[in-house]
Amino acid sequence: MLSANIGGQTTIILKEGTSRSQGREAQRANITAALVIAESIRSSLGPKGMDKMLVDGFGDVTISNDGATILDEMDVQHPAAKMMVEVAKTQDDEVGDGTTSAVVLTGELLTRAQALIDKDVHPTMVVDGYNAAGELALRLLEKIAIKVKATDKAMLRKVAKVAIASKLLAENKEYISDLAVNAVMQVAEKSGTGYKADVEDIKVEKKPGGALTDTVLIQGIVLDKEVVHPGMPKRVENAKIALLNCALEVEKTEFDAKLNIQNPDQMKGFLDEEQKILQQMVDKIASTGANVAICEKGVDDIVQHFMAKKNILAVRRVKQSDMEKLAKATGGRILSNLDDLKSGHLGVAKFVEERKVSDDKMTFVEGCKDPKAVSILVRGGTERVVDEAERAIHDALCVVRNVIVDPRVVAGGGAAEAEVSRQLRARAQKLSGKEQLAFQAYADALEIIPMTLAENGGMDPIDALMEVRSKHQARQIWAGIDPIKGKVADLSRLEVYEPLAVKVQALKSAGEAACMILRIDDVIAASKTKEGGGAPKGPEDSAKEEGEGDF
Ligand SMILES: Nc1ncnc2c1ncn2[C@@H]1O[C@H](COP(=O)(O)OP(=O)(O)OP(=O)(O)O)[C@@H](O)[C@H]1O
Ligand SMILES: [Mg+2]
Repeated sequence: MLSANIGGQTTIILKEGTSRSQGREAQRANITAALVIAESIRSSLGPKGMDKMLVDGFGDVTISNDGATILDEMDVQHPAAKMMVEVAKTQDDEVGDGTTSAVVLTGELLTRAQALIDKDVHPTMVVDGYNAAGELALRLLEKIAIKVKATDKAMLRKVAKVAIASKLLAENKEYISDLAVNAVMQVAEKSGTGYKADVEDIKVEKKPGGALTDTVLIQGIVLDKEVVHPGMPKRVENAKIALLNCALEVEKTEFDAKLNIQNPDQMKGFLDEEQKILQQMVDKIASTGANVAICEKGVDDIVQHFMAKKNILAVRRVKQSDMEKLAKATGGRILSNLDDLKSGHLGVAKFVEERKVSDDKMTFVEGCKDPKAVSILVRGGTERVVDEAERAIHDALCVVRNVIVDPRVVAGGGAAEAEVSRQLRARAQKLSGKEQLAFQAYADALEIIPMTLAENGGMDPIDALMEVRSKHQARQIWAGIDPIKGKVADLSRLEVYEPLAVKVQALKSAGEAACMILRIDDVIAASKTKEGGGAPKGPEDSAKEEGEGDF
């Protein structure tokens, strides 16, 4: 309870149950909480990093090496620890890779800041020093970055391989990186002097079963839906596809209406009329030359029956995001009014086919001509393998996209961090007093990446770091850690490249989060409100929100 003595009277300012911690105590608690998070995922960094198994409240198990996923599943409570989770999330949203690095780096910046604060350096001095060093670090990174060609497939493949190297897919990295490069290059478009690409245009669909090598790139869209009527063809060649987001049903009135029927003829007339409307819908679709109809909403049983008679293949209740991808892949237009449908609106694909994948039926819209949206169907032994494979593919797609959009790379294995660290340290010599201390601390903190990679690779981290440092002193700027062989090496020679964008974002988000945590000197926490207002969301609720589910 926070109270003040005003005019001899004790006045309560904050509600009962509110807790407050201030100054050093608050700072230390925050830093400690953040460090626990960083420490917990440190061992998963790099190609020799370990995976984590997480079990949620429902008993569902996730096995992952991906920083953002691990932290997301951890259900962290402490507010400062939550900020670390946000670092990973931002990194994931912005560049898709480097989440573990960003969190580990934030942790190290905080550890070193704590040491300075203990030596009576004021936190704002540390923050100022970190900001100055951070800005310079970004410029240095850009300076050492290697320019590449956005369409250099070999380079894109190398970058994808590094992103996958630390994941479960490492065994199949050649195959998967090829797939990722082809997928992103397919959806990339020229924009001004460069390229733009959106990984959202790549639909990653997963289905447990088969092996990881059965994962395929589809020049079109795969839908986790079956053909609606057994009488319809299961495969349509030279597909002309109507994309509809209107229901192929007789609309129900919004208000209750009563129909007074006096004799059976009237009833029959009523039903006939309804059937006529439905038949007209099918006639309209058929008249445009469409042989496939993909509908975002429902398709009436009678419509299905008439469509089957006309050999039209139909799929219903397709997600809106999938409809958009279908339009991009097939070149068709999504129409909300059936009356507007013309043959020019139809999408085109070599074939549309329902195929059995494991136990489920899926519909493949394949062989699209120069599709601007494609799909990857991820296969693998078990559900957890497929889940982690999907995350690794996401990382690979993102890094390829990063390089296509901003064609600059740096060598990995902690080489880029070590080089920036060396140059920053040299700069720090020119500063004086406490400013130098914080600047130096930032430079030293960057070395946590090569150190951790060495540690996870079973090397002696201090020895490895000293070797890397001395090589950088001798101007071998891409000297870093090769955790696979367990030695210090030239990472550019090993062709371990990462997008500059990933490194830049990691420095930015780590610096910002560390400074934000350091600036806090007062934590006022309201007492927890009792649970029970809203029950936790069950799977049913979330399904309803997305508006999917076949009825
Ligand atoms: N073959 C390799 N040799 C040396 N270093 C490598 C190699 N492959 C990857 N690395 C390094 O491993 C680090 C990346 O590890 P990892 O992918 O586990 O974490 P992350 O990218 O920071 O986070 P996440 O992938 O979980 O989002 C980078 O520093 C990268 O340079
Ligand atoms: Mg990675």
